[in-house]
Amino acid sequence: MKELCRKLVTGALACTFYLVPCTLLQAQEHSYAPSDIENGRGLYQANCLGCHGNDADAVEGANLSTGRFRRASSDEDLIRLIREGIPNTLMIPKTNLSYGDTRAIVAFLRALPSGGALVADEREVRIGDAARGEALFFSNQTQCSACHGVNGGGNLLSPDLSNVGATRTPATLETAMLDPIAEVRAGQRFYQVTNLQGNTVNGLLLNQDTHSVQLLREGERLASYQKEDLQNHGFIPSPMPSYLDVLSPDEVSDLVAYMISLKGEE
Ligand code: HEC
Ligand code: HEC
Repeated sequence: MKELCRKLVTGALACTFYLVPCTLLQAQEHSYAPSDIENGRGLYQANCLGCHGNDADAVEGANLSTGRFRRASSDEDLIRLIREGIPNTLMIPKTNLSYGDTRAIVAFLRALPSGGALVADEREVRIGDAARGEALFFSNQTQCSACHGVNGGGNLLSPDLSNVGATRTPATLETAMLDPIAEVRAGQRFYQVTNLQGNTVNGLLLNQDTHSVQLLREGERLASYQKEDLQNHGFIPSPMPSYLDVLSPDEVSDLVAYMISLKGEE
């Protein structure tokens, strides 16, 4: 498996992963440093995710992922709104957040329409045979089930797919296999830290604030790092390999069929 990953996750893809959000941000004329956006993501997770959700679209009438807001247009409006709250709603003033922290959250929200939020992909894709897809999923050829759980099994670092057919379009599932770096959901992003001695550790980013980072590491271990003890830290590409050159188009359509049959029931 390791070999498969090494072979497939190429440097070129890693480059695209880092470059795309920056270019899109510039195009939108909101230029924030990647470090602001990363900071904002952690602050969002700690302060906002509980109500606004993983994809920032959980509050009805206040979808934060589209780049358009009912009560704010400029970034300064947004900062003010977040710090002062909206009277008589659950959106209470966030008096604990400094101006800089709030600005970082706005940087994160501004990056969402291109970098984070996932627009439903309604493209028509071929749907094959679910039974053949299931066999492939649990086979040595793909090793999907070595990482992913379906009604149990799998490991905590890779999303459980038991309900994926109810919440994703067939095209989204196809892209997840062929181009895993293209769409990674908030909450499923991998992070790497390098300490002052040069040792690196990878894991799922659970949370971060100005001073520390918390990762979920392989073996389901939680780890916390002080940023001042780190030489380097940042997001890294998904560990999921691309199956573009590994599976035939028929096999891809069979796996899509199997996944859309996964709708949460046992
Ligand atoms: C306790 C739940 C809760 C928390 C926590 C929360 N919000 Fe909200 N937020 C809401 C609700 C509810 C609304 C919609 C209020 C209304 O319009 O009735 C809202 C509205 C908003 C709006 C206005 C959207 C628009 O279209 O004008 C923004 C921006 C916003 N929230 C950002 C944030 C940010 C950033 C955080 C974290 C710092 C946060 N919220 C934390 C519940 C919450
Ligand atoms: C080395 C571990 C690994 C293997 C092997 C692997 N995946 Fe993944 N997969 C991940 C991780 C980690 C993510 C979350 C990050 C991302 O989206 O790339 C993911 C994401 C996904 C998603 C998106 C989930 C969502 O919530 O939208 C789908 C669908 C998926 N994988 C299907 C598969 C299928 C089908 C196979 C086999 C053909 C497979 N994976 C093989 C680790 C793996």
